[in-house]
Amino acid sequence: MNTLLKGKKGIIFGALNSESIAWKVAEQCHSSGAQIVLTNAPMAMRLGEINSLSDAIKAPVIPADATSLDELQNLIEKSMEHFNGKIDFILHSIGMSVNVRKNRPYTDLNYEFLTKGWDVSAVSFHKLLQTAYKMDAINEWGSVLGLTYMAAQRTFPDYNDMAENKSYLESIARSFGYHFGIKNKVRVNTISQSPTVTTAGSGVKGFMSFLNFAEKMSPLGNATAEDCANYCVTLFSDLTKRVTMQNLYNDGGFSMTGVSQNVLDQFMDGE
Ligand SMILES: NC(=O)c1ccc[n+]([C@@H]2O[C@H](COP(=O)([O-])OP(=O)(O)OC[C@H]3O[C@@H](n4cnc5c(N)ncnc54)[C@H](O)[C@@H]3O)[C@@H](O)[C@H]2O)c1
Repeated sequence: MNTLLKGKKGIIFGALNSESIAWKVAEQCHSSGAQIVLTNAPMAMRLGEINSLSDAIKAPVIPADATSLDELQNLIEKSMEHFNGKIDFILHSIGMSVNVRKNRPYTDLNYEFLTKGWDVSAVSFHKLLQTAYKMDAINEWGSVLGLTYMAAQRTFPDYNDMAENKSYLESIARSFGYHFGIKNKVRVNTISQSPTVTTAGSGVKGFMSFLNFAEKMSPLGNATAEDCANYCVTLFSDLTKRVTMQNLYNDGGFSMTGVSQNVLDQFMDGE
């Protein structure tokens, strides 16, 4: 328990079940003193697991499909009513590729699927930021975070069209971070997280072998969902007020490691 977020109010997207990164972020923000509103797509609500988190951290759930401007506006209005004022932080923890779900290889993409996945995974971040910007819904020195993956910078064969979605998401953080910074001193960043066992993560082909490879490559090992939650708390707090428009790696050093001894050992050739 710490008090880094005492008195702060935030909206958290994307807690589907107890493995979701957003679930851990919500728990950690709550135990750091924040008040939370939880949200997810109406379809995810039907699974019902979010209600146990809502009870545990005393956070209302306001459904919103993050691709719908009307639903985003309703979410922000209702959240401000609930908080009796503006919002201090938002976590966008949303990702989905229809091509990945339907096993379409990258060299045979369906472009309707691509457009849907791009809208859900990336453009929704712009829609959220633009809605909050127009409604003047975020307090000065507020903080907005999106979650991303390093396939935006380097190629991972089975990450498919999610690589482009993440590049787009990271670019929105930079571009909107400029405008929101000028207008309200609001920071916008993305966290590039290690592979983590969750519903979305495990949907990627060969995910467990990739997770084990990343573990062996990273000097500090893979960052867990709990590590990500702790990092989010620091970025929502006043200790990181001038960190903005960044893509920040929470990956145990994976992104800066060419090769590790652990991985080289697998290729020892009678030396
Ligand atoms: N798990 C990993 O290995 C990993 C690594 C790096 C980044 N990330 C990113 O972390 C974020 C959270 O994913 P997760 O791994 O916790 O998986 P998850 O499946 O628990 O979360 C994804 C969430 O997106 C929500 N969602 C989907 N469509 C939506 C819509 N239209 N409107 C609102 N919400 C919608 C889902 O309901 C779900 O709650 C994603 O952006 C993901 O790409 C995950």
